[in-house]
Amino acid sequence: MIHQAKQHLESQTGCRPRIAVVLGSGLGAFAEELTDCTVIPYAGIPNWPVSTAVGHAGHLVFGKLEGLEVAVMAGRVHLYEGYTPAQVTFGVRVLALLGVKAMVFTNAAGGINLSLSRGGLVLISDHVNLQGVNPLVGPNDERLGPRFPDMSEAYSRRYREIALQVGGELGIPLCEGVYAAMLGPSYETPAEIRYLRTIGADVVGMSTVPEVIAANHMGVRVLGISCVTNMAAGILPQKIQHAEVLETGALVRDTLVRFLKALLPRLEV
Ligand code: HPA
Repeated sequence: MIHQAKQHLESQTGCRPRIAVVLGSGLGAFAEELTDCTVIPYAGIPNWPVSTAVGHAGHLVFGKLEGLEVAVMAGRVHLYEGYTPAQVTFGVRVLALLGVKAMVFTNAAGGINLSLSRGGLVLISDHVNLQGVNPLVGPNDERLGPRFPDMSEAYSRRYREIALQVGGELGIPLCEGVYAAMLGPSYETPAEIRYLRTIGADVVGMSTVPEVIAANHMGVRVLGISCVTNMAAGILPQKIQHAEVLETGALVRDTLVRFLKALLPRLEV
C-alpha cells in the first residue's frame, strides 16, 4: 500500500525533500509560500485517505522554500473521522519512504495550562497518548522500524532548541508543553481537562500523536507545534466551538508562516 503510493509520487515529481510539514486545522496557509510547486491532490494518490474535516485541504505539495526542497501535507485525516491508525499514519510513512528525515507537525489545540492564551504557539516537548490505539499494533514490518521503538525523545530536543532560538530572533513568543491526545470528536469535559492538567498535560488535541509514533518508528526526527486555538473546556465561562478554532488558526497564520519560513532552513537533516 505505502510502496504503491511512494512509486506514484516518484512518477509525479523529481523533488526529493528531506523535510516535510504537516498542516493542521485552519493552518493551511504555509503551502502557498512554496515556489516551483507540484500540487498532488490526495484523491489522486493510490490508497491515500482523503479528509472529511472542515478546514482541512487535501493535497500534498512538493516545492521549494528559498531553494530548500520541502513537502507539505495540507490536510490530514483523524481517528475521529473513522480512519484506521494505518490510514492516519499513511502519509507520514510514504513521505519517510520517499526520503524525508525531519517532519514538522502543526496542530490546533486547546490550552490547559493557565499560563497559555488563545493564539499562542507551543513547542511540543512530549505527549500523552490517550487515544486508546497505537499505529504500531499488529505485525511489525522490520524494514520500516523496530518492534519496540524508543519514545524517550519523540520530539527532538535539538529541534526545539533551534525553534526557540528562531522564535527569539523573530520576536515570536514560544513555550514548551506536553500534548495530550484525545480521540474526539467531542471536546473534553471540564472534569477531563482537570484530569489532563493533573497528569501533566499543557495542551490537548485530537491529532498528531499517531503520526509522531509512526515517524519515530521510521527514524524521522520530529518537531511539533501546537497553536492554542481556544482555552480548554471549563477554563473560561464559554462553550468551545469549532468556528473559534478555525478563527484563531486564521489569526496566527501569518505568524506561523513567518516562523516556519525561518525555521525550516535551520533544521539539521
Ligand atoms: N480540545 C481538543 N482538541 C482541540 C481543542 C480542544 O479544546 N481545540 C482545538 N483542538
